[in-house]
Parts: sequence; structure tokens; C-alpha cells
Amino acid sequence: MATFTKLFFTLSIFHLLACSTNAQLIDNFYDQTCPCLQTIVRNTMTSAIKKEARIGASILRLFFHDCFVNGCDGSILLDDTDTFIGEKKAQPNNNSVKGFEVIDNIKNSVEASCNATVSCADILALAARDGVVLLGGPSWTVPLGRRDARTANQSAANSQIPRPSFNLTRLTTMFLAKGLTASDLTVLSGAHTIGQGECRLFRTRIYNETNIDTNFATLRKSNCSFSSDNDTNLAPLDTLTPTSFDNNYYKNLVASKGLFHSDQVLFNNGSQDNLVRSYSTNEAAFSTDFAAAMVKLSKISPLTGTNGEIRKNCRLVN
Ligand code: HEM
Repeated sequence: MATFTKLFFTLSIFHLLACSTNAQLIDNFYDQTCPCLQTIVRNTMTSAIKKEARIGASILRLFFHDCFVNGCDGSILLDDTDTFIGEKKAQPNNNSVKGFEVIDNIKNSVEASCNATVSCADILALAARDGVVLLGGPSWTVPLGRRDARTANQSAANSQIPRPSFNLTRLTTMFLAKGLTASDLTVLSGAHTIGQGECRLFRTRIYNETNIDTNFATLRKSNCSFSSDNDTNLAPLDTLTPTSFDNNYYKNLVASKGLFHSDQVLFNNGSQDNLVRSYSTNEAAFSTDFAAAMVKLSKISPLTGTNGEIRKNCRLVN
């Protein structure tokens, strides 16, 4: 009887731990409940990127902006309604973040296979990883078990997502506030090896700054006038290989060809110069460190256990 009581007690504690709100993310969270999940995400991302390579970049950014506002909880995916203000129209996101339709497509296929099981937050984490892999970057195992927020926070999105005009101290402080180091800032900024940015966000840099390669500035000015006429004209964040996930971002920085002020501050006679220089010549080190930092990013304040919900539609709370 004593053994039975002990066993019962141990099992109850295990159960409590598994259901507790402090439950950890785990790699095989959906192995039994949604075994096709990772295949569905990979296949949908493959066809989306085949249509438009940039979408891999857009979804990676979406994930970053999700995680920096109340943690990786799918809050960025929520649409505004008459009674609800979300994060989509926050200044850093408005008319800028993209990829919501791809997340909807993945969610629809996942629901068809295993309904009410997989969170939108986890789908976004997997899709971001797959975007990187499909554009030639490193892979990593995504810890899973996040649940979806029932709310969003526009003012936190306005104040906690870094801006392209920020200096190194400000960027570092924002990353430290999320449990990420200055080195994490430098390696995660390597995400700017893919994707595009709007003229309005780099105009000041190309017209007013001096730590910029002259030919590069001239090239960018050709499609981004000093007046606000072509605010939304696009330029690649990595001038060398905009759709390949490689270490050319760092080669650009060493050559004073960072597109945003916030890029070039990582190589401007400051604390991150050595790391930038080393990533510029050692792609393997960049790949390994980027993958590790993405796992760290993906663990920022997730909702787990009985917190939050598994949204049926990523745009709406249940
Ligand atoms: C360190 C501070 C950062 C700042 C200030 C910053 C700022 C920006 C800005 C201004 C854009 C262009 C937006 C537009 O033109 O609409 C952009 C694009 C992008 N950012 Fe960042 N970013 C930062 C860090 C990151 C991180 C950590 C990631 C991912 C891990 C990331 C991933 C991307 C990607 C992939 C794009 C291209 C998106 C696309 O083409 O749709 N960024 N970022």
C-alpha cells in the first residue's frame, strides 16, 4: 500500500509539473498529437518562397517582432477589431511587417490535420526557422509548446521594438531587457542578410552619414531621393546576396555598406567590431551562433501549460 501511495504521489507531482504554468518548451511537444506538423510547415514555406524569396525574410522578421512584445505568443498575428487594438498598426509594424497570409495557410492545413492542437506562436517559430533554411541558412531544433496570447499590446510594440535610427547603446539596452546579450544583438542582426528595407528608413544614413562607402551611398540614392517622393522604394538589406542567408551582411558592415544606421553601429569602432570582423570571415561561426541565438529568442516569455489558448484562427482570439 505504501508503494502504491508513493507511486500515486509521484505521478501526481509529474502531472502537476506537466500542467503547471511554468512548463518548459520541449522539442517533441507535438510528436504524438500532430506528427505531420513540421512537414506541413516546411511544404507551405517551400511553395511560398518559390513564389517570392523575400517572404522567408518577412516571416523571420514577423517572429522577431512577435517575441520582442510580451514574448513569443503570436500576439503580432491578431487583427484589430472594433473593440480590440493589436500590434499590426504599431509604428514599427504598420505597412511594414508581412507574411500573415502564409501563416494563415499553414494554420489552415495544420487545423485540417490536427485541429485545436498547435498554437499560432509555434507555427510562426517553425516557419521562421524554415525560411532561414530554405534560403540557405543554418537549421535548428525549435523548442515547442508555446500557447497563444488572448491579447496584444500596441504601446509595447511601439516602445520595445528597436528602430533603425537607434545607436548601439540603445539597441544593446533593448536586447538586454529581453535577456539577450550584445553578442546576441550582433548575431541576430545578421538576419539582415536577407530581405528589403524602405527608403524612408535609410534616407538619413545615405544622405547625412560619413561612415558609409561613397559608391554604396550613390547607388542607394539612385532609388531613394532626398525628398519624400519615394519613401517606400525598396533596397536590399544585403547589397551582395539579398536572397541568400550567408555572412555577407558582415562583409558589408566591414566595407561601410550597412543599410541602416542600426546596422553600421555594429561596426563603427565600438564593442562589436571584433565579432563583426570574425563573422565576416567565418561563416560557420556565424551559422552556429545564429542558430543558438534564435533558440534563445524563441524562448522569450512563452505562454505554456494552461496559460493563453490554442487559437483556431491566428488573426482572432477564440
Ligand atoms: C537590432 C535591431 C533591429 C532593427 C533596428 C531592425 C530594423 C529593421 C528595419 C527598419 C527593417 C526594414 C523594414 C521596412 O522597410 O519596412 C528590417 C527588416 C528586416 N529585419 Fe530587422 N531590425 C533589427 C533586428 C532584426 C532581427 C533581430 C531580426 C531577426 C532575427 C531581423 C530581421 C529582419 C528581416 C529578415 C528583415 C527583412 C524583412 C522583409 O524583407 O520583409 N531584424 N529590420
